[in-house]
Amino acid sequence: MFDTLARQSDDPLLALIGLYRADARPGKVDLGVGVYRDEQGGTPIFRAVKEAERRLLEGQTTKSYVGPEGDPVFLERLWDLTTGPAGRSLATAGVQTPGGSGAVRLAADLLVRMGVKKIWLGVPTWPNHAAIFKAAGLEVVTYPFFDVPSQTVLFDGMMEALQGARAGDAVLLHASCHNPTGGVLSPEHWAAVSKLIAERSLLPLVDSAYQGFGKGLEADSEGLRTLLAAVPEALVAVSCSKNFGLYRERTGAVFAIAASKQAADAVRTNLAGLARTSYSMPPDHGAAIVSTILGDAALTADWMAELETMRGRVASIRERLAAGLARRWQVMTAIAGQEGMFSLLPLEEADVMRLRAEHAIYMPASGRINIAGLKSAEVDAVVEKFLSL
Ligand code: LMR
Repeated sequence: MFDTLARQSDDPLLALIGLYRADARPGKVDLGVGVYRDEQGGTPIFRAVKEAERRLLEGQTTKSYVGPEGDPVFLERLWDLTTGPAGRSLATAGVQTPGGSGAVRLAADLLVRMGVKKIWLGVPTWPNHAAIFKAAGLEVVTYPFFDVPSQTVLFDGMMEALQGARAGDAVLLHASCHNPTGGVLSPEHWAAVSKLIAERSLLPLVDSAYQGFGKGLEADSEGLRTLLAAVPEALVAVSCSKNFGLYRERTGAVFAIAASKQAADAVRTNLAGLARTSYSMPPDHGAAIVSTILGDAALTADWMAELETMRGRVASIRERLAAGLARRWQVMTAIAGQEGMFSLLPLEEADVMRLRAEHAIYMPASGRINIAGLKSAEVDAVVEKFLSL
């Protein structure tokens, strides 16, 4: 019966990992998947993560099941990190998930169960967003978010499109560090879009996957806090992959903000039920690490300091790249004002393939670059390769 299946092409973004690894050329550059790299090209394990693991290894007494909702202490600490004190007074339901993608999928399944038919996604967005929502059975509709040639956020276009959304539609927003554009919504933008979402009775789903890589841990959730103060209900998908460097541990959570404690409890039981019929229970190790770090002031301070160093490195590479590319494309100065790991360059697919074939510079066909993949020492040479296109 398996012969009824057609071979599927590999996920183009994830396939880059294998293509890059297989390239034997020295000096190859990986601007592909969104993974932080240091000046040596490695993706380090945070010191605080290592210490938390050491403590877990010594102190953990069981590997028994955690339950479909995961660890409530992890969830409480992560929610506190995501929203700060502002989130504490809200009626919240949280469920631990296998990474941020697992959180988005569980949110999508919940939307379907609630009878939501449509979700609005910005153009462009993370390619897996549309795939996840469609797989869950939602209709995907789009709003303009970013114009690549001029490197500008299309806020007016976004607002105009969302005026056409119907009550009960869901809207996806990125909390910060927009993937793939780095485009920033200002505090005024957040206030205006939050008002529109509340007025039109839309349900926001906020994807928070890069908190701490933009303006800083607290500043990166400012927009989310504005939104949560304006709307009665929301969903928030949180990933710990990047900011705790726990990529392969698949650590995340989905949170729902409801109008009452009773409604939040109903959401929680539905999320847990959806998890049970999908993967049953989330992986524990990454969540146990995050919980250990956030429950210890010294470990938290050390983790924050290391994250801040990473953020600073990416920001300084971003500035140098912007200045270099602006020598030929004035519009590229805009990259300096963007945030997070990504920018989306106005490249043709043929340019991307040429960079790969001739210079061993890897990025997806969209022209998205992971700035965190560049070492300082490589910036000038990489800029020259771009300028030579
Ligand atoms: C990315 O966009 O590169 C990351 O979020 C990794 C992924 O799962 O696609």
